[in-house]
Amino acid sequence: TTHTYDFNVTWVTANPDGLYERPVIGINGQWPIPIINTTVGDRVIIHLHNQLGNESTSLHFHGFFQNGTTEMDGPTGVTQCPVPPGSSITYNFTTDQPGTYWYHSHDQGQYPDGLRGPFIVQDPDSPHKGKYTGEFILSVSEWYHKQIPTLLTSFMSYTNPTGVEPEPQAALMNDGPNATFPVQPGQTYFFHIVNMGAFVGQYVWFEGHHMRVIEVDGVWTEEAEADLLYVTAAQRYGVLVTMKNDTSANFPIVSSIDEDMLDKVPPGLNPNVTGYLIYDSTQTLPQAQWLDDFNPFDDFTLVPSDGLGIFDNVDHSMTLDVVMDNLGDGQNYAFLNDTTYLPQKVPTLYTLLSAPEDLVTNTAIYGENTNSLIVEHGEVVEIILNNHDIGKHPFHLHAHNFQVVVRSDAEAGDFDPTNTTALTTAAPAPAFPAVPMRRDTIQVPPHGNVVLRFRADNPGVWLFHCHIQWHMQTGLMATIIEAPLALRAQKGSQGVQALPADHLAACQAGG
Ligand code: C2O
Repeated sequence: TTHTYDFNVTWVTANPDGLYERPVIGINGQWPIPIINTTVGDRVIIHLHNQLGNESTSLHFHGFFQNGTTEMDGPTGVTQCPVPPGSSITYNFTTDQPGTYWYHSHDQGQYPDGLRGPFIVQDPDSPHKGKYTGEFILSVSEWYHKQIPTLLTSFMSYTNPTGVEPEPQAALMNDGPNATFPVQPGQTYFFHIVNMGAFVGQYVWFEGHHMRVIEVDGVWTEEAEADLLYVTAAQRYGVLVTMKNDTSANFPIVSSIDEDMLDKVPPGLNPNVTGYLIYDSTQTLPQAQWLDDFNPFDDFTLVPSDGLGIFDNVDHSMTLDVVMDNLGDGQNYAFLNDTTYLPQKVPTLYTLLSAPEDLVTNTAIYGENTNSLIVEHGEVVEIILNNHDIGKHPFHLHAHNFQVVVRSDAEAGDFDPTNTTALTTAAPAPAFPAVPMRRDTIQVPPHGNVVLRFRADNPGVWLFHCHIQWHMQTGLMATIIEAPLALRAQKGSQGVQALPADHLAACQAGG
């Protein structure tokens, strides 16, 4: 099946938190933007028309592998040019993976202004088929009253040398307060939980009900009981929730901002947003209870249903250190090793496809500020990510899910390859799980580390970055140049001219 959409991207007015009306970025005059629903194997064709008038844009389909279609991935300066106002481009790709995804602008930190929505792929062969009778989407995000360009200007100014992130004004569930989920007693439902926020992690719980996790970032898992989930920006969970047999009351579902991520908690901020399981619409909506002990489910313990074992022969290990600092100029920057990513005018993919073939394995051609890391086709790649910062950083790798083989406690320091047992929290010795959890976004703890592994089986140009939009804009990003020679061969002798004409035209139109 092919799903074809015309998306006219325009400013519309909305007041999602009920506190403040503001311009937001909508599609076809609507906000929230459409939910995309497909089945494994389906094709999606989106004609994107930028009618914002004052900003460029793009779309990224978070979590999709884009195998063979790296040019459809969406980040500007990486796989395409920004789509300037008045221009259109088409995204055309297949959804070959099941589960819970989302899509968002990948241009200038723009998506928190509203251009983000859920994307669900149904799986006729799901190992959990038949366990539920209905499905719901439960999205969460923080919300700002000011628009991103204004917030970015002050965040990146010389008056903010330590990089204090803008404080959100509210938490949203399904883009508002008081989301309702009508349920039948005794039935089991599949909730697709997605944090579409740009900054804070959120704790999510159902009062009076247990969750059973069955999916993590598009990877089916064996069932695992959970009462409280911690969902970072860009992470997803699929959970089953079985209803009570009694219909005498409705129950709150709560999502609560991780206040530890805020430098200071603004006095007016309600960190919680509440939705409701509605058993009986004639009953009142109950008051949610405050939780004083946040002890979330440990996702490190999840086991993928496919049983894929750990990649234990690492071909290529790289260490990246997260450093937040300034350059003595009073402005805050983010560094991976010693590099702060700078936006590229020529998309890195275009550089790769235009260069003489014998140069594409030479990082120098991509420019120092792309933080380019070349990996060879088929090799098992390990990323050791050490956090030298006091903040939490939810890192995302495009076009892959990675095995999480180590995740340390906060304050554990750098990963020590000679002493893995002492550093792993969740996994008892042997330190490396035999069948590691896989996902596409993982939070590296404050002054701690994670170790990730994946197979370089997807030629393309793919970002690896902190998903906090503030940190992306100050450079917490690297470019994985995966199998450049295979990618050249895939696109053929026309090189960059093999890319769709409308993508190339966006570069011309943008000047
Ligand atoms: Cu959700 Cu680089 O993206």
